[in-house]
Amino acid sequence: MYYGTYLHLDKIIESQYPVSFEKDNEPAHDEMLFIIIHQAYELWFKQILFELDYCMGIFQKEKINDNSEDLNLVRHRFKRIIKILELLNQQVNILDTMTPMDFLAFRNLLTPSSGFQSKQFRLIEAKLGLEIDKRHQKDYYKRTNEGGFTQPDYQHINQTEENKHLLQLVNDWLERMPFFDATYWEGVEVDNAINHPFWKQYKSIYGDGLSEREQSKQIDFDAVFFEQFAAEMTPEQKQTLTCSFSPAAMRAALFIMLYRDFPVFQTSYQILDSLIEIDHLMSNWRHKHLIMVRRMIGMRVGTGNTSGAGYLEGALNKHYVYRDLSGLSTYLIQRSKLPKLPDSLIRFLGFNL
Ligand code: HEM
Repeated sequence: MYYGTYLHLDKIIESQYPVSFEKDNEPAHDEMLFIIIHQAYELWFKQILFELDYCMGIFQKEKINDNSEDLNLVRHRFKRIIKILELLNQQVNILDTMTPMDFLAFRNLLTPSSGFQSKQFRLIEAKLGLEIDKRHQKDYYKRTNEGGFTQPDYQHINQTEENKHLLQLVNDWLERMPFFDATYWEGVEVDNAINHPFWKQYKSIYGDGLSEREQSKQIDFDAVFFEQFAAEMTPEQKQTLTCSFSPAAMRAALFIMLYRDFPVFQTSYQILDSLIEIDHLMSNWRHKHLIMVRRMIGMRVGTGNTSGAGYLEGALNKHYVYRDLSGLSTYLIQRSKLPKLPDSLIRFLGFNL
């Protein structure tokens, strides 16, 4: 084995072809940086997809054994994705060493190609759970004309969108959590989760901790965790309070957040926290990219034929996937006020199973 052969460096290092260096064009020095930075991004996108596929494979299992290495590996690989995204955020700074006029020297030669057409970026978004109907200016994504995708890329993205995404898989996993089973609550059988003794007690403690201005959050609580909407709510309010996760999954997620200090919840908690972090880092990247684009091309349209910075700003505001998880903080209470759990449940939550 030889270093260069193992890494196929002959292909990678020989894959930069600045168009401005071609015959009859004026060579633009910064086009090399522009190409290499995009290629570096795409390599890291590949690694992110590789890790995501592994994690989704675990969540696709009908039952995940908490006593196996499965969840710990998911946690570990999510952390790796986080580190990669942190690096990708930093990488924008390198491109920022190119001035707008350096970019103008070769920009026209690129039209109509654009980062918008990064299939891997779209796959990351789709696998994380960004659905087409929730996208800003969704018509842009279904283009195979100028500035859109090639037919094969378009089909690949469509196929991926047809499969369950990570959010749905995590939702299924959360729904399977048995914390509120009658077995652990001395035979308490409830027809509806809203009548469960834990939630009744929790809601009352939560309500007591709210300020006067926050009282309406109690009504929101019922909507988010029990799908019970107050009669006077407008369709828009109902829409705002309808989560991407099911109420049962939201209840399990809140429970994990609350009792995260039980060792048995650590891994699950860190998995949920990683999803929030991944969402934030994707959003940070969108923001850094937007600021860089504004500086680079001002208010000109993008080479990929969108409105440019205007489109990117809309995507930045709208393309959060795990907002409902970060929003759980709205419904937390002080640690010292946490309801004491029944012994049978504590025993179940212990490591002495
Ligand atoms: C001079 C540097 C850059 C400029 C001026 C620029 C400009 C733009 C513009 C205007 C768009 C909107 C689509 C369009 O109409 O083209 C866009 C989208 C995009 N660009 Fe860049 N870009 C630059 C660098 C990069 C780099 C280094 C990457 C790394 C992969 C990248 C990835 C993307 C992605 C993924 C999108 C889609 C974003 C979304 O839909 O949320 N861009 N870019």
